[in-house]
Amino acid sequence: MQRLLVTGGAGFIGSNFVHHVIENTDAHVTVLDKLTYAGNRASLEGLPSDRLRFVEGDIADAELVDGLFADVDSVVHYAAESHNDNSLHDPRPFLDTNIIGTYTLLEAARRHDRRFHHISTDEVYGDLELDDPERFTEQTPYNPSSPYSSTKAGSDLLVRAWVRSFGVRATISNCSNNYGPYQHVEKFIPRQITNVIRGIRPKLYGAGQNVRDWIHADDHSSAVLTILDKGEIGETYLIGADGEKDNKSVVELILTEMGQPADAYDHVTDRAGHDLRYAIDSTKLRTELGWTPAFGDFESGLASTIAWYRDNEAWWASSKDATESFYASKGQ
Ligand code: NAD
Ligand code: DAU
Repeated sequence: MQRLLVTGGAGFIGSNFVHHVIENTDAHVTVLDKLTYAGNRASLEGLPSDRLRFVEGDIADAELVDGLFADVDSVVHYAAESHNDNSLHDPRPFLDTNIIGTYTLLEAARRHDRRFHHISTDEVYGDLELDDPERFTEQTPYNPSSPYSSTKAGSDLLVRAWVRSFGVRATISNCSNNYGPYQHVEKFIPRQITNVIRGIRPKLYGAGQNVRDWIHADDHSSAVLTILDKGEIGETYLIGADGEKDNKSVVELILTEMGQPADAYDHVTDRAGHDLRYAIDSTKLRTELGWTPAFGDFESGLASTIAWYRDNEAWWASSKDATESFYASKGQ
């Protein structure tokens, strides 16, 4: 029976992964999470206590990390500062967690010879033109734009160096934009859904032309389990579900699905350095490891996500006011 350590397991994608693992395998999971503003223990409620252990702590705490690595077979590393807008306001925590935190975990993986999977993002590749015929592949050169994506790029390079220099048994995945339950209301889709629920008009940065490549968080989880199981050590796999949509279309879909006029939103100050388009070519993962996404249809995945936020106001209500005050102070 696998013993898995999941860092950042109280965050959006990490908690979706923990649910997925408990439902689809017989693994025992230890979650290490600092419970920053983005972490929420309620995201793990209802999971069996004999399969899940929760440890509150920092991935940059070498002593704590060392003890946890001693007791597991594999580690999946989700913990990060993850929001671009926050990284423009205060980059420092991004360096501490994404760089020093990842370094601390890699040193423990090296000492204990543990299988390590590093969760990264398509943003390390920079952005594409709207009409660029090529999507991102594993060969695309790194070209990050923001303090967030540059620290994620740095963490990927650390993983590659620890594989080559020290023989750490690691893989990396770079995934596109996730949506689904348990996502913090600072992020685009939950922000607009919860705005509509609260009677606030959705806020679109700039003209809303920017394109993101959406994947349901559960499909991200199945891809990570596939890589953990069948991935080749030292390899990088891009994860995506062919879900490109421009932001304006996504806001209009949310408004329509929630019974509002499609144009009932505001244009607000654009994000500094705003990446124009991300798009993933996941051929390698699909052909070499046989993975396919289960959520083929963004519209129905979005409808179930809207239903989840309607049904779980207690989960997000306490973060909403502070998030909107922060955005208001930036003209967004
Ligand atoms: P999130 O912000 O929702 O969650 C991050 C979690 O990490 C939180 O629970 C937080 O408490 C925890 N954490 C932060 N600093 C920590 C520290 N020093 N020690 C321990 N725990 C700490 O993020 P997310 O959107 O779930 O993203 C998870 C991972 O997936 C990140 O590595 C991110 O770069 C990557 N990713 C995200 C997306 C996306 O669309 N959200 C897409 C591709 C990759
Ligand atoms: O591509 C993967 C990345 O996706 C992950 O690495 C990041 O952790 C994750 O946060 C996400 O980054 P984005 O910056 O693309 O996501 P965000 O939800 O912040 O914004 C999505 C798009 O919507 C982006 O073009 C900015 C825009 N936006 C965002 C907000 C919060 C708006 O138009 N209005 C908003 O209110």
